[in-house]
Amino acid sequence: MGKFTQKDMIYEGKAKRLYSTDDPDTAVVEYKDSFTAFNGEKRAEMSGKGRLNNLISSEIFGYLAENGVPLHFIEKIDDLRQLAVMVKIFPLEVVVRNITTGSIVKRLGVAEGMKLPRPLVEFYYKDDALGDPIVTEDHALIFGWASEDDLAQIKKITLDVNELLKKLFEPLGVVLVDFKLEFGRDAKGALLLADEISPDTCRFWDSSTGDRLDKDRFRKDMGNVMGAYEEIWSRLSARKK
Ligand code: TMP
Ligand code: ASP
Repeated sequence: MGKFTQKDMIYEGKAKRLYSTDDPDTAVVEYKDSFTAFNGEKRAEMSGKGRLNNLISSEIFGYLAENGVPLHFIEKIDDLRQLAVMVKIFPLEVVVRNITTGSIVKRLGVAEGMKLPRPLVEFYYKDDALGDPIVTEDHALIFGWASEDDLAQIKKITLDVNELLKKLFEPLGVVLVDFKLEFGRDAKGALLLADEISPDTCRFWDSSTGDRLDKDRFRKDMGNVMGAYEEIWSRLSARKK
């Protein structure tokens, strides 16, 4: 990776490991071959998953960077690793829904597969022990998880990312159903999009067949999980730039 030397592992999550480098403002993110769902209750290892998510996520982050989105991503290092700006993550998962499926159908009893009149933005409190409960902006403000200004910036970036991702995936025959983002703040105080964008964190449906090309194949035991991730990577990497 040239510029920096990877040092100690500072955090191990369900899908990635984080390492410090000799620069305190820079981290190495390493993608693992692990799958988890339902708050870690269901687990599996699949060889090649870390590589595909790193390639997909790096490609998407590169595209978002070209379009002016402020990102923690600096560059892809190799098949499994990215160099990123060290950030402190807001304890919020920001979900955008364009079409109803998943938890919103269970929670509100609305019809499955409904195209929403505009993107729906939801916040979840990042806490594994509580199962990441849905919260309102007022919860975030009152409990000090983010300020009014942070939430305004987060929502603006989130909706911009939704439009950019729809524009990226539509010509590839992929419908962007919903996705989850995380944000952080760097040492200088800049608010940056962080974490990953991959078939683990998005729902992708094939626009002609409706085939699921994302982690729902793992969550619901639909089979051919890695085939779906391969398909997303093959369409993304073949796109005309
Ligand atoms: P949901 O319908 O289960 O709430 O998921 C909405 C979107 O968020 C979907 O694209 C999957 C993604 N997601 C994550 O990235 N991490 C999570 O822990 C959960 C529950 C969902
Ligand atoms: N990311 C969560 C877990 O690993 C849930 C999910 O994506 O379904 O448990």
